[in-house]
Amino acid sequence: MPTTDLAGKPIAITGASSGIGRATAIAAARAGMPVVLGARRLDKLQEVADQIAAQGGRAVAHAVDVDDPESSAAFVRRGIEAFGGLYSVFANAGYGLEGSVQHVTDEQLRAIIQTNFWGTLNVIRPALPHFLERRQGHVLICSSCVSKVGLPLHSAYSLTKAMQDHVGRAMRIELLGTGVHVSTVHPIGTLTEFSARTADRSGGSRKALRTPKSMMQTPELVADRIVSCLRKPIGEVWTSTKMRLSLGLLTAFPSVGDWYLARRLRRSAEQE
Ligand SMILES: NC(=O)c1ccc[n+]([C@@H]2O[C@H](COP(=O)([O-])OP(=O)(O)OC[C@H]3O[C@@H](n4cnc5c(N)ncnc54)[C@H](OP(=O)(O)O)[C@@H]3O)[C@@H](O)[C@H]2O)c1
Repeated sequence: MPTTDLAGKPIAITGASSGIGRATAIAAARAGMPVVLGARRLDKLQEVADQIAAQGGRAVAHAVDVDDPESSAAFVRRGIEAFGGLYSVFANAGYGLEGSVQHVTDEQLRAIIQTNFWGTLNVIRPALPHFLERRQGHVLICSSCVSKVGLPLHSAYSLTKAMQDHVGRAMRIELLGTGVHVSTVHPIGTLTEFSARTADRSGGSRKALRTPKSMMQTPELVADRIVSCLRKPIGEVWTSTKMRLSLGLLTAFPSVGDWYLARRLRRSAEQE
């Protein structure tokens, strides 16, 4: 597949006020893409827009709550209007939650599905007719490595990441031959606001599995892989081959996977 020249191809990114979304916005702008930045904290988005402008790029900040379909559709429209069309949408906004299946409340479960799953569809669906009409486009979905396994004490989060993964894979095949690419992104532990916000939201449960600090990656590394995928589309973006292969094994041999996860969980608890 030939490499796509990204210069002048606009991208709309949700969750661009911090972490992976912010780093991707900066990396995409460096590749010449005009960027529509979306999240709820407009002041943070404006800082990112200013940084992009200072580096010679183009960006607009737009407050969006991906939980709300109308707000999400308005965000996509703003991108189309601001730059005369969109080439890509990156559904990246999301958050984590810790807690056992027994203890996560219905309200917490509905809320995380609303943001991580519906928040993804809410921005993809309004962009799709535009992409199909132009016979070009690239849908990116920030799932996670945990989309492939139900992590103990993270089942609510894992299931939303699996939902994104499934939707992305199905769409990728449904849209073959239309000129619209669909890719899911599967980062491992990444140094963003994610962990602190997850702990705050979950009452700081300390027993859950955590990525050792030495294995955490930077959001810039994830952003680099995403921009490479925009240039040369692939179905799944992974930032760790070791994790990808390990998860393959855990899925192929579930009883070994259960044993391994139980052992990791026990060790995490012992370290507290
Ligand atoms: N960090 C990791 O270890 C890791 C690993 C794998 C996958 N991921 C995935 O990567 C994505 C980005 O996370 P991150 O690590 O960059 O975390 P982060 O720094 O906490 O960023 C999350 C972003 O989502 C936005 N957001 C949350 N709820 C929103 C809503 N209702 N409407 C609009 N924006 C909303 C936040 O902005 P506002 O608060 O300003 O709205 C923020 O910009 C998430 O989907 C996460 O699941 C993260």
